[in-house]
Amino acid sequence: MGSDDIVVESPTYVHEEEEHSHKEENEILKAAMAELKAELIRYKLPPLLVAEILDVFPDGKALVRLKNGNEFYVNVDRSLDSRLKVADEVLVEQKSLTVVNKIGKKKHFDVNKYVIVEKPNIRWNQIGGLKTEINEMKEVIELPLKKPELFKKVGIEPPKGVLLYGPPGTGKTLLAKAAATSTNATFIEIVGSELVQKFIGQGAKLVKSIFEMAKEKSPAVIFIDEIDSIAATRIDVGTSGEREVQRTFMQLLAEMDGFSPLGDIKIIAATNRIDIIDPAITRPGRFDRLVLVPAPDYKGIVDILKIHTKRMTLSEDVNLEKIAKKMKGMSGAEIRAVCVEAGYFAIRKDCVMVKHDNFLKSVEKIKVEESERIKDLSYLG
Ligand SMILES: Nc1ncnc2c1ncn2[C@@H]1O[C@H](COP(=O)(O)OP(=O)(O)OP(=O)(O)O)[C@@H](O)[C@H]1O
Ligand SMILES: [Mg+2]
Repeated sequence: MGSDDIVVESPTYVHEEEEHSHKEENEILKAAMAELKAELIRYKLPPLLVAEILDVFPDGKALVRLKNGNEFYVNVDRSLDSRLKVADEVLVEQKSLTVVNKIGKKKHFDVNKYVIVEKPNIRWNQIGGLKTEINEMKEVIELPLKKPELFKKVGIEPPKGVLLYGPPGTGKTLLAKAAATSTNATFIEIVGSELVQKFIGQGAKLVKSIFEMAKEKSPAVIFIDEIDSIAATRIDVGTSGEREVQRTFMQLLAEMDGFSPLGDIKIIAATNRIDIIDPAITRPGRFDRLVLVPAPDYKGIVDILKIHTKRMTLSEDVNLEKIAKKMKGMSGAEIRAVCVEAGYFAIRKDCVMVKHDNFLKSVEKIKVEESERIKDLSYLG
């Protein structure tokens, strides 16, 4: 193509228009570049740590606690220091731990989110066997809540707390709930292992709030399940996790020491591991009544079978005494499982009546399941 072929005919206004759109495009690209650059810079910034303000000092310093439990005396960014309050959640720089920002408002610690609060409905007669244990609970929980004046007259102090111990599934939680039911008390339940695993850094605070809540909703029974996870001996307080457990434990002891045995709050704790419990917890004025909740004997098994078959439709051939003979060593929870499973055997045969044979099959099934569970656990050593 020769240069003669080139015909320049576009009038000036077309040039201007084109130039204009180029400029515009340029601007847009520049803006996008700037945005990307800013984003890149943001990506390169080291993350800030989240901390809690423990104290604020007039000289622009503050005491903060990191989530791992370590505490530091640090500087506060000048724009912030007048606005900071104790318990504020803040952001701190990684190296100097200078407080640079406050996140949100002061968070109220809502104890309701963490504990189970209920008015239970378990009657003493729904607990099979355990006659002496039930009597003991009546004496140390029910009676002082119902008739404190009796104790004042006689001039003795009932135990503040009861520690229930024994193998799993034998009725410890049931006993605690029945004690709350019979005194119309609010039942506040916390699980020791959750206190230390789920609420890291807040265990001690939670214990404190729970006792405050109990006072508000009294009469109340505070039930601490798996207490061994916060009250075990030989805890090396080396790691921050262990220090945290220690703090939670100390708070619990302090709370227990701080209330009256004749007030309207009672504490019940439960454990499967009495062997590792710190003796500090069983000193006078704390959990000074220990109650062993054993696996049921023959009579207990019959009792528990009766309770859990009460609402089942049983065929005439069912002989609970005979069935009980095959259930030696089973816990209350397993006995209940046998009843449910026997019901399933009937349903599977399209039958609404549960037969003796359904129970026998069910006992075998639960025994096999249990032995398999133990085999599984043996991997853990
Ligand atoms: N003595 C009992 N009488 C009637 N039912 C029982 C008895 N023991 C256990 N059960 C049944 O087993 C279930 C579990 O019992 P519970 O929660 O009281 O056991 P636990 O001793 O607290 O066990 P864990 O140590 O595992 O917490 C109960 O809800 C109940 O259905
Ligand atoms: Mg329990």
